[in-house]
Amino acid sequence: MTEPRFDPNLLQVPLYVAGKAVDEVKMELGLAEIIKLASNESPIGPSPLAIQAAQQALLNAHRYPGVADRELRQKLATRLGHGLTVDNFLLANGGTDALRLVTQAFVFDGGNTIMSRITFPMYPILTLAFGGTPKIVTPLPGYGHDLAAMAGQIDEDTRLVFLCSPNNPTGDILTQAQMDAFLSAVPRQVVVVLDESYRDFVTNPDYANGLAFVAEGHNVLLVHSFSKSAGLANLRVGYLVGPANLIEYVRRARLPFHVGDIALAAAAASLDDTEYHRRNRQAVLAGRDYLYAALRQLDLCCCPSQANFVTIIDPPLPAVELSERLLRRGIIVRTMKAFGMPNAIRVSVGSRVANEKFIAALTLELAETGNKEYETYEQYQRH
Ligand SMILES: Cc1ncc(COP(=O)(O)O)c(C=O)c1O
Repeated sequence: MTEPRFDPNLLQVPLYVAGKAVDEVKMELGLAEIIKLASNESPIGPSPLAIQAAQQALLNAHRYPGVADRELRQKLATRLGHGLTVDNFLLANGGTDALRLVTQAFVFDGGNTIMSRITFPMYPILTLAFGGTPKIVTPLPGYGHDLAAMAGQIDEDTRLVFLCSPNNPTGDILTQAQMDAFLSAVPRQVVVVLDESYRDFVTNPDYANGLAFVAEGHNVLLVHSFSKSAGLANLRVGYLVGPANLIEYVRRARLPFHVGDIALAAAAASLDDTEYHRRNRQAVLAGRDYLYAALRQLDLCCCPSQANFVTIIDPPLPAVELSERLLRRGIIVRTMKAFGMPNAIRVSVGSRVANEKFIAALTLELAETGNKEYETYEQYQRH
């Protein structure tokens, strides 16, 4: 008997290694308390209104999804303004699924895509999965996207350019001036995918808000997510914003009843909970400031982040070793090799207690390796 044939493009794709799950680490290490700062989740959990709406929607779990998709798109159009309508939105199972739909829609019969070397690894992974060639561009010295070099890589086979702002894992943004210059250099047959999954945590007024580019008629598809800003990572809701003709085309790649009503109901309710969004953003901004101040005290070098995470570059001991040591203390962080930074760890902004415990554990680890003066947790607490 012959074996089933495997797709050589799919075989090139590495299995995605997600941040470790809390229960997994608890079991492996026999620890009672685990702090997960590895996947940029909300420090305050979901909105109570979202939980309520999901519970209500569960009563209709036996029905196929109905009008919730259109209703959420209508709500988004009203909320985001810029003259957008329901036809400018496509809902998906998280931003990752939105990225997959776009890549499937535009990468066919070969073709290439362009992305920075230090960014979200799903861009090259999805390109490979659909038989395309990722063209990976060296970033600027401060790790930002080198937009001029990226534009210079565009050729007649280029289908997509992936930009990420704020960028994961560096947290830096693309400014209005940078984006204006870039978009004027991109030919119309190339679709620019601007991933704004972390847009809600930006404070820099120079941030380029992609909605205006869509409104102006550029071939730009924005990726937004309910995972981080609405604390709904487990319900998997994200969406694309773009010109109606591109959205209509990409919609062909969706499955019937693509996103379930329970997730859609929670997402819609969270949009109405402006107080929740204020609290979530406030927790992230305060936690980010705290982490920066504490990491500076420890003489660690960090990327200046506009997102809900901070990346520590070249810590005094190898990133893999440091993350394993932190794990043994019950703190899960993420090493950034797969994101193009071979010796860096990314820590999500957590609750106040989680952030403090992370800093305490880190301080102890650095002390154990001879970099700081504390040898025990008690000594650290007393300092
Ligand atoms: C840059 C970026 N884009 C998209 C996503 C997708 O998130 P989700 O699929 O949970 O919406 C993530 C998640 O980590 C991300 O970091």
